[in-house]
Amino acid sequence: MRDIEFHNREKEAKEIRAILDRRPTLITFIYGPINSGKTELINHVIEELPEEYVVFYINLRTKFLASYDDFIESLFEMEMETEGALKKRKETLAELVSSVTKVAGIPINKEFLDYVFKDNKPKNAFSYILKLFEEVRAAGKQPVLVLDELQKMGDVKVNGFLIYELFNFFIDLTKEKHLAHVFVATSDSLFIEQIYSEAMLEGRCRYLLVDDFDNSTTINFLDKYNFSDAEKEVAWDYCGGKPVCLVELVNSENRVEKAREMLRIRRGQIDQRIEVLKILRKRILFEGEEMEVKYEEVMKILERFSEDESYEYVGIMPDVTYLVKENIVFVDPVKGIIKSQSRLNLLAVREILQRVIANE
Ligand SMILES: Nc1ncnc2c1ncn2[C@@H]1O[C@H](COP(=O)(O)OP(=O)(O)OP(=O)(O)O)[C@@H](O)[C@H]1O
Ligand SMILES: [Mg+2]
Repeated sequence: MRDIEFHNREKEAKEIRAILDRRPTLITFIYGPINSGKTELINHVIEELPEEYVVFYINLRTKFLASYDDFIESLFEMEMETEGALKKRKETLAELVSSVTKVAGIPINKEFLDYVFKDNKPKNAFSYILKLFEEVRAAGKQPVLVLDELQKMGDVKVNGFLIYELFNFFIDLTKEKHLAHVFVATSDSLFIEQIYSEAMLEGRCRYLLVDDFDNSTTINFLDKYNFSDAEKEVAWDYCGGKPVCLVELVNSENRVEKAREMLRIRRGQIDQRIEVLKILRKRILFEGEEMEVKYEEVMKILERFSEDESYEYVGIMPDVTYLVKENIVFVDPVKGIIKSQSRLNLLAVREILQRVIANE
């Protein structure tokens, strides 16, 4: 395995830095197709930030979130089960703040531990965070809260959905108090679509797209790893600018064969998903109702990709929902378009369409 250094993203990094330079006013949603490099970008920007920023970065991806307690535990930096670890905690908020620079999770002191967990009230946790952030500001620094994969807590309930309480808290931190910058990242485009049409967030957030690399960024990346012209052509044709796919090629003995293999695998997977619809009445949750996913409807959506790479949509119907959940297509509510999750997916879909037409 070769060591792959962070590549480019100057435009997006600059945008984030410009946001951090101003007074916090809006929540920033970072979105994009799967594996486009959202998390990598955030981590890169955090690493390069000057000392005056104190970043609280929480990635919910690996967290198991079934309840309110799970969420609170993943928010705070603590090992609840070990007494010893707790005893080692700093005693006052001021001491805590002076010891944090760039941390994962929100540190907590003993005094607030009981309070935060009292009566399952999100407000207790939020008021603790507020105090902590105020303390950070009093120390002459700027707090930044980053939540990666926030959609994971979409189903958690405490007297209604916790996510709404959380959004209210974020609005308070940004638009009302101008206290902390809030960034939320997600690869779930259905979640972003919901957020986009959520009345309570209207005019209170902005969206930042982190898409796959464009052509020149991709070629520059490949040049770093000595791709021949023929290899570059195949890489762009099969992987487009999907970083994770390009990294696979960098690490392969035979790059051209690897690209073909990745397409074969993806095509097989999508074929399986589609063929199953012919014999199974698959149901998905749509607007709170269980709806049947119909093979013909799904194929109609896929057919739109036979010539074009994207199309403008009006509404998100069960067929599109299914294709998003299977990571085949990506909904961009800001641009109002639907496109494939990646070049590899687009090619696989086109091969499948040709086979279906040939069989008819
Ligand atoms: N700018 C970059 N330079 C080099 N490699 C990158 C870059 N961005 C992403 N990658 C590679 O792509 C992989 C996937 O990136 P990352 O996990 O950041 O994507 P993501 O958009 O957060 O994915 P998900 O949709 O699953 O949340 C990384 O592990 C890394 O190998
Ligand atoms: Mg990510």
